[in-house]
Amino acid sequence: MSLTKRRFDALIIGAGGAGLNAATQLANADARVAVVSKVFPTRSHTVAAQGGVNAALANVLPDNWHWHMFDTVKGSDYLGDQDAIEFMCREAIPTVYQLEHNGVPFSRLDNGKIYQRAFGGQSQNFGGAQAARTCAAADRTGHAILHALYQQNVRARTHFFDEYFAIDLIRDDEGAILGALVLEIETGEPLLIEAKATLLATGGCGQVFRTTSNAHINTGDGMAMALRAGVPLMDMEFFQFHPTGIAGKGMLITEGVRGEGGYLINKDGERFMERYAPNAKDLASRDVVSRAIVTEVKEGRGVGPNGDHVLLKVDHLGEDIISKRLPGIRESSKIFAGVDPVVEPIPVFPTAHYVMGGIPTDRYGRVVTPIQNGPEEVVPGLYAAGECACVSVHGANRLGGNSLLDILVFGRAAGQDIIKYLKENPNHRPMNETGVEQAMSRLTRWEQKGEGLSVREVRDEFRKAMEDHAGVFRTDEIMSEGVEKVKEIRKKLADVRLTDHSDVFNTARVEALELENMVDIGMSIVLSALERKESRGAHSRPDYTERDDTNWLKHSLYFQEGDKIDFKPVHTKPLTVETFPPKARVY
Ligand code: FUM
Repeated sequence: MSLTKRRFDALIIGAGGAGLNAATQLANADARVAVVSKVFPTRSHTVAAQGGVNAALANVLPDNWHWHMFDTVKGSDYLGDQDAIEFMCREAIPTVYQLEHNGVPFSRLDNGKIYQRAFGGQSQNFGGAQAARTCAAADRTGHAILHALYQQNVRARTHFFDEYFAIDLIRDDEGAILGALVLEIETGEPLLIEAKATLLATGGCGQVFRTTSNAHINTGDGMAMALRAGVPLMDMEFFQFHPTGIAGKGMLITEGVRGEGGYLINKDGERFMERYAPNAKDLASRDVVSRAIVTEVKEGRGVGPNGDHVLLKVDHLGEDIISKRLPGIRESSKIFAGVDPVVEPIPVFPTAHYVMGGIPTDRYGRVVTPIQNGPEEVVPGLYAAGECACVSVHGANRLGGNSLLDILVFGRAAGQDIIKYLKENPNHRPMNETGVEQAMSRLTRWEQKGEGLSVREVRDEFRKAMEDHAGVFRTDEIMSEGVEKVKEIRKKLADVRLTDHSDVFNTARVEALELENMVDIGMSIVLSALERKESRGAHSRPDYTERDDTNWLKHSLYFQEGDKIDFKPVHTKPLTVETFPPKARVY
């Protein structure tokens, strides 16, 4: 197979908010930048973000970045790195103004300022009254941001490789990243993209669960590529279940619904969050609300013929507010749940939404590989930003509205640092031909056709195993079984074959490559989860009900080689302010 090659200063894999914000910096600095995306850029999953982006603009209620920082540290159950959190919360304010200047059509207050809504876990004055910090464009904020950033890149002449799938990173013997092998999905032709710096911005991996708010594209490709390049994944046990997915389907119903005044009820019509979070109620942190819903259902207060969900009541807001502030969720509720929230409550249940863990980076987006029992080392030429990365600003639980913020702040920071890196490293390193051959073998393996297991059956079995064994509540027994099942499934991959007709559909090979990626990620989740013997944030263990700061205030690291787990310290020292020491986390 002949191999076409292209050379760029920087390669960005992924065209969501993180990738595009980084690309804008680079293209505007006259770097030759390539963006590879397996879908057309404006179909990246950022487009699905609904409720908004957090920044302490104080347009609706008093606010400042330090309160935002406190809420984020508390929301993370004290596992977030406080230097990175301070950086993000300070940068939030100029970031939203940058978006405004880039043309994002934010909703407006009567005085013309950007509209901000209340979201879960937000407070004034370090844990006081509810804050309103989430800047929104109705309930289609991600859509508005992604389109604006794409237009900025078109103007800056970023080079897009649309509908190209990244297969693997190429690494040299010194550990530097030289670019990536990618596949043009339409033609099935591989392409080697050489770059002085490569940014992974491939988003999350929600597809590892059967019920998820994530798009089909969210298969953890960047995280799996990092694992195969020898980089560990950090804090993968922390997976967020968004409280309000459409019951049985998983599509997102934004937290903005509760921010606008919607609330949850059980089969008795009881507003049950008052029992679980007496102050914040429905606007408690997501892990708290998801556990409350699952508990209501388990204890027999669920709604419906199977008692398997609860209801989100919205009708009291009135048609005007719903149409103006929440038009998208009205549409989704009608299409996917068959209810019009103007007249009927929406059936909801927690849905796999967001991975707090990922590729370990510093706040400049540089990938750092902690050597076991040794210091962290920056991987030359490799960056990561957005959901695939773990800076860590979300720790054990992310606050709603901090995800769009993370991708924008750290996408930009990575772009800026790459500009500096390119000045210091003006030349391409020699290509590692053995590394290219290894990456090519990943592709050619899927040329074998014939009798065997199908991608679909193994994928279904895997996603069900993840749902059953790595859900909202996890015990040693449940997770140990999960580890065994994922190990079995990993072995089965060797018996998977594409059908004789699969070359009719160019996506068949991509789906197989995605399945391999998902199984690699699944293993990192179940093994990290089994190892952590405490309850913290989204990792909730009925057999270890308490948070244990003495033994477990540390980040976990999963290394693919030998399925090993290691740990590294949390950065508890912020940049300029006092540390927020761990406290009991109540809402
Ligand atoms: O509920 C939502 O609109 C989701 C926001 C987020 O995950 O940050």
